[in-house]
Amino acid sequence: MPDSRQAYYKTENIAEKGEVLWQLAHPEPAASVEWAAGYRADMSDSFIDVRPIDPGSAGWVEQYINDRWAAPLVIAHAVAFDPHQLPGYVASIDGARVGLATYHIDHMGCEIITLDSDQRGIGVGSALICMVEEAAEQAGCSRLWLITSNDNLPALGFYQRRGFELVAVHRRAIEQARQLKPQIPYIGFEGIPIRDEIELELPLPKQESDVAQR
Ligand SMILES: CC(C)(COP(=O)(O)OP(=O)(O)OC[C@H]1O[C@@H](n2cnc3c(N)ncnc32)[C@H](O)[C@@H]1OP(=O)(O)O)[C@@H](O)C(=O)NCCC(=O)NCCS
Repeated sequence: MPDSRQAYYKTENIAEKGEVLWQLAHPEPAASVEWAAGYRADMSDSFIDVRPIDPGSAGWVEQYINDRWAAPLVIAHAVAFDPHQLPGYVASIDGARVGLATYHIDHMGCEIITLDSDQRGIGVGSALICMVEEAAEQAGCSRLWLITSNDNLPALGFYQRRGFELVAVHRRAIEQARQLKPQIPYIGFEGIPIRDEIELELPLPKQESDVAQR
């Protein structure tokens, strides 16, 4: 069976990657069988390969979280998460792991706990988000949501450009988080003091009008 997503991808202008990835996340019914195992997005000569965390990548995930988040723990809304115990997706290019997303599903919806990319600006983060969104929809979640810190302006832009909306500012929440995780720095992106938690969400299923805005 031809891989319709890959074929479609090859015909697109690379600058339209965000839109293409969104369409990749909602493949034709004929291609959806392959979706469960992950997908390969054509990157001209290379591919972003996004797959669920498996036992073979568990050690890498644990080390990666430690490296990126300065500890095995991530704190959000006063809850300590152990990302390497969570479900998630690993992105690879040419066999090298280049990104990770982890998430947690409960009655509040699907929460993105971590999202990290080592190859920025080529679609790794978008591909990971698409996969988590798909998992959330399949689990019947009414929303995909996350907490980020007030200084993380790049992430705030990244998520809002993908349809997420700001729903709450939890003032001084990071001061509490430091009691659980003293490694959280005091100064973040471009010298901004790290103080508050900002909550963003994407209602699910995504509305047609949201897709048109991307
Ligand atoms: C936020 C983060 C995950 C984004 O990852 P990324 O791999 O750079 O994401 P993408 O490549 O999919 O998208 C980044 C930009 O590159 C653009 N892009 C992607 N592929 C492209 C391509 N082939 N050609 C041109 N532009 C492209 C995207 O359109 C996007 O720009 P936009 O937001 O203006 O639409 C990354 O910056 C990161 O790891 N940050 C640190 C950790 C963090 O803050 N995580 C979020 C808080 S939980």
